[in-house]
Amino acid sequence: MSRRRVILGASLAALLLGLGLARSGWLGPGRVPFWSPAHRWSPEEQRRIRSLSLDALPPLPPDPSNAVADDPQAVALGHALFFDPRLSGDGTVACATCHRPQQYFTDGRARANVRGEETPRHTPTVVGAGYNTWFFWDGRKDSLWAQALSPQEAPLEHAGNRSRHAQVIAAHYRDAYEALFGPMPDISDPRRFPRDAGPVEDPTLRAAWEAMTPEDRERIDRIFANIGKVLAAYQRRLLPGRTRFDDYAAAVSSGDRARMAALFTDEEAQGLRLFIGKAQCINCHNGPLLTNGEFHNIGLPLRPGEAADLGRAQGASQVLEDPFNCLGPYSDAAPETCLELRFIKTEGVELVGAFKVPSLRNVAATAPYMHNGSLPTLEAVIAHYNAAPRAFPGHSDLEPLHLTAQEMAQLRAFLETLSGPPAAPAALLAPPETR
Ligand code: HEC
Ligand code: HEC
Repeated sequence: MSRRRVILGASLAALLLGLGLARSGWLGPGRVPFWSPAHRWSPEEQRRIRSLSLDALPPLPPDPSNAVADDPQAVALGHALFFDPRLSGDGTVACATCHRPQQYFTDGRARANVRGEETPRHTPTVVGAGYNTWFFWDGRKDSLWAQALSPQEAPLEHAGNRSRHAQVIAAHYRDAYEALFGPMPDISDPRRFPRDAGPVEDPTLRAAWEAMTPEDRERIDRIFANIGKVLAAYQRRLLPGRTRFDDYAAAVSSGDRARMAALFTDEEAQGLRLFIGKAQCINCHNGPLLTNGEFHNIGLPLRPGEAADLGRAQGASQVLEDPFNCLGPYSDAAPETCLELRFIKTEGVELVGAFKVPSLRNVAATAPYMHNGSLPTLEAVIAHYNAAPRAFPGHSDLEPLHLTAQEMAQLRAFLETLSGPPAAPAALLAPPETR
C-alpha cells in the first residue's frame, strides 16, 4: 500500500517536474512534443520571418545630398525647429502639430486638418523615414530634407513662406545656424528681402518673390534648404523600436519553442503564417520595415466627392522637376551618386493610382489608414485585401484572397504584435526644453 503510494507520488512528481522543465524550455528545442503546431516553421518560413525582423535592419543609409544629415548639432537645431510654430504663417503650426510624438508621429485623423480644411492625404509617420528613398505617398520628393520644405509653404499646413522662415532663423537661431553652415547673409533690408515672399499660390507673396533679384532669391533658398537639412537630421534619429514580433523572430531563429509560445498566442502565430504565405502581404510589405519602398495600386475606395488621385504617375514627374532634388543646386551630392533619380521610372500604366507601400511597424497605433485615410480600422483594411475590388484610376495589383473570418482575425492579431515605442533618446520625443 504505502510502497504503491510512494511510487505513485514519485511518478506524479516526475511528471510535474517534466512539465515544469518543458514549460521552462529546459528540455531544449524540438524535444517537447506538446506545443501547438502553430509554432512549427519550415526552413523557408523561418527565413521569411527572419527577413522581417529588426535584427535584419541594416544601419541607416547615409544621405550624400545632406552634408549635415548625421551632425549632432544639426539634430539639436532640427529638433527645435520641428516643434517651433513660428515657422508658419500665423505662428500656430509646427511639424509636431501633425506629426505628434505621442501618436507615433501621426495625427490620428483620416486626413490632416489644422486650418479647418482637410488636406487631400493622410498623415504618415516620420519614424524610420530616414530609410526611405521616396517621400510623400506619391514619392514626389527624393530626400528627407527636400520633403521638409513643402509643408512649410502649403496653405493647408504651415501656410508660411521661405522668406519669413529665413527671418525666423536669423532672429532666433543665428548662432546654431552659423555653427553648422557658416555666416548667414545679411537679410535685414526689407526692400531687398520682404518679410513675406515665396513661389507660393498667394499672388501677393509670389509677386514679392518675383520682384527680388535672382541672387537674393538664391540666398533665401539656401537658408530654406538648410532648414530642411536640419529637420532631416532630427528625423533620422527617430527609428522604429523593438516589438514583440522581433522577439518572436529571434525565438524562431534559435528554435526556442517555449519562448515562441510564451511570446505569441496560436492566433498571432497563424496570422504571421498567413502574412508570409497565403495572404501574400509579404509580397509588398517585406524587409525589417515591412515595406518594399515601391509604389502599388491597391484599388482603394474614393471618398465621396474625392477627385481621382493619379499618385505615382504624377509624383514621378514632380520629383524630376523639383529644384531641391538630389541633382539640384542645393544638394550636397555628387550628381553621379543620384542613382535613384537618374534611373527613375516616370511612365507606365502601373504608376497610375499607385502609392508608396507604408511600413507596418506600429500599424495598430496609427489608424486610420491609407493615403486618403479611407479605411478606418485594421478589420476594414483586411476586408479590403480579401475582396480586392477593381481600381479607379488604374489597375489594382491585388487578387481576392478567400480568407475565412477566422483567418482575417488571425491576420489582425498578428498586425497588433508590430507595436513598440520609437527607438530614440527620450529627449528627442518631446519638445526641446528651451527655444
Ligand atoms: C497639416 C499637417 C502636417 C504638417 C504641419 C506637417 N506634415 Fe508632414 N505630412 C503630412 C501629410 C498629410 C503628409 C502626406 C502628404 C502626401 O503624401 O501628399 C506628410 C508627409 C510627411 C513626410 C513623408 C513621410 C514618408 O514616408 O513619405 C515627412 C517626412 C513629413 N511629413 C515631415 C514633416 C515635417 C518635417 C514637417 C514640418 C516642416 C511636416 N511634416 C509638417 C501632414 C503634415
Ligand atoms: C501589391 C502590394 C501590396 C500587398 C500584396 C499588400 N499591401 Fe498593404 N499596402 C500596399 C500599399 C501600396 C499601401 C498604401 C496604399 C495607398 O494608400 O494607396 C498599403 C497599405 C497597407 C496598410 C495601411 C498602413 C497605413 O499606415 O496606412 C496596411 C495596414 C496594410 N497595407 C496591410 C497589408 C496586409 C495585412 C496585407 C496582406 C493581406 C497587405 N497589406 C498586402 C501594398 C500592398
